[in-house]
Amino acid sequence: MSAPPFRILFVCLGNICRSPAAHAVMQAMVEKADLSQHIQVDSAGTAGWHTGKMPDDRMRRAGQTRGYRLDHPARQFLAADLARHDLILAMDCANRRDILALDPENLFSQKVRLFCEFCTQHEEAEVPDPYYGGPEGFEHVLDLIEDGCRGILQEAKRHLPDGGGS
Ligand code: 4NP
Repeated sequence: MSAPPFRILFVCLGNICRSPAAHAVMQAMVEKADLSQHIQVDSAGTAGWHTGKMPDDRMRRAGQTRGYRLDHPARQFLAADLARHDLILAMDCANRRDILALDPENLFSQKVRLFCEFCTQHEEAEVPDPYYGGPEGFEHVLDLIEDGCRGILQEAKRHLPDGGGS
């Protein structure tokens, strides 16, 4: 029997800008590494305001320009996601706090990490919310996400039975 996949979940506030972008970038990197069978990617928002909606048009366009397909319908983060995923990446500290509020017994906090911990080319501690800003904010989000996702892929590979073949 093959090993269960390593499950990664990206979480922001609305699940229409940052986390669906991270979801798409990570998915592209996983496919490029031929690891789709071993690494699963999903995203969610701590708020349910945009449930069922496609990602924000500005984020979709910015992602598309870099070759990423953002097509995840928004969904709200659930307490059940804590047990279901192996690595949960919060885009900012408020997201992390809201996720951990659903873990009152502190069973899962070790797998809830800040996305930017995995960046090697940027100093920021959080992925800033681009929703109320201009187009440069979406480009900056993608820069951070491409950086962090490279590190997250390495982290995921360490958890695969044969190190992901590398
Ligand atoms: P996200 O951005 O958390 O990156 O999806 C936001 C999307 C929507 C809102 C805020 C942030 N909003 O206030 O509706």
